[in-house]
Amino acid sequence: MNFQANSDSLAAAKTMDSSDPLSHLRGEFQFSHPLYFAGHSLGLMPKKVPKYLEEECEAWAKLGVEAHFEGRHPWLPYHENVTQSLARLVGARPEEVVAMNGLTVNLHLMMVSFYRPTKKRFKILIENNTFPSDRYTADSQARFHGFDPKDAVVELKPSPGKITLTAAEIEEQILECGDELALVLLGNCNYLSGQRFDFETITKLAHKTGAIAGFNLAHGAGNLELSLHDWSVDFAVWCSYKYLNAGPGGIAGAFVHENHLNRKDLPRFEGWWGHDKKTRFKMPADFKALPSVEAWQLSNPPIFQLASLRASLELFEKAGMKSLSERSSKLTSYLEWLLLRRLKDKVSIVTPQAPNRGSMLCLKFKKNPSNWIPKLREKGAVVDFREPDIVRATPAPLYTSFEDIFNFVQALEELTHE
Ligand SMILES: Cc1ncc(COP(=O)(O)O)c(C=O)c1O
Repeated sequence: MNFQANSDSLAAAKTMDSSDPLSHLRGEFQFSHPLYFAGHSLGLMPKKVPKYLEEECEAWAKLGVEAHFEGRHPWLPYHENVTQSLARLVGARPEEVVAMNGLTVNLHLMMVSFYRPTKKRFKILIENNTFPSDRYTADSQARFHGFDPKDAVVELKPSPGKITLTAAEIEEQILECGDELALVLLGNCNYLSGQRFDFETITKLAHKTGAIAGFNLAHGAGNLELSLHDWSVDFAVWCSYKYLNAGPGGIAGAFVHENHLNRKDLPRFEGWWGHDKKTRFKMPADFKALPSVEAWQLSNPPIFQLASLRASLELFEKAGMKSLSERSSKLTSYLEWLLLRRLKDKVSIVTPQAPNRGSMLCLKFKKNPSNWIPKLREKGAVVDFREPDIVRATPAPLYTSFEDIFNFVQALEELTHE
């Protein structure tokens, strides 16, 4: 994306905002800070959330247990209210997606079904710099099956001194694992580098070696346009408190490709919410699995969390992931361009260039961030810091404006000058 020198002005940023068809969605959010660039960590609250929560409090107050069956949004099928939107969000069929549990819980549940190591095929390929919870999940699953994680869990290796990988390096390392590879388990985008992994190619490579391809969309759902079904991804999991703005500890999601639904040979941890809806309340002793990914549900879901997710997904429906990712790409390119123009000697951008990224930019500053991040906050701007030296800044496309980006870079420039 090309910006001209005259794009470096408040007036130009305002013009870009007024000509963008999705700018109005910003008004649907409650801003905790004027310049919020931490949507990769916790998304802002959609203004409708309190109303949706209040509705369920009222249903509880007025109907008690009957609210499972009565009222505007009966609780028994409540999770179905988000199914269609989640399917569109990740490029899946409705029967392939479900909102349930937390992200790490879902990752374990998926690995119970899809990590079936044998003496020969037992390796799990993960990211370098993988988020610690993903690492703990992989290590503990390997141990659970009697393997030493030092042998079974293999990290992708970037070339010396780099934290991102080339497509050739990824391909080479998947093929190198060959018939020892049981599972490729990657995120998108990587939480520390912002690198986006090409799921379609990686899935093909994993399948070529006979391995399963599973992905963690913590930094992908609501951030990137995805086509999980068409790419033949085997499974995926995600959280909803980052780009999906469903609030702290929000209900997570899971995807299982239709190829794996109704398979009798797949082991699964089961609970009553995965049982056939028609006979669930007859309390039968034998489990009859639902024909969709809902079969992986264990417990009845948290309605309040689903209510805030509903409020947020309505905004994604209004925007559409295609338009949103186009807007995202413009916003992030503008941030990148301004940073390189104004702070060239003070910052380096770790995140690869478009299209190998989402909306988050991971930055390394010459000036120690602990000296200036608190001052940035005093100016109303929020980013976050991840050890050892990465500052992450995200123009979240549903609510960040070009004007915000201009003011944010201006504030950064002032503080990193001193
Ligand atoms: C990539 C990644 N994996 C796992 C997690 C852990 O998520 P949860 O606490 O929802 O299980 C996070 C949380 O930020 C994450 O970013």
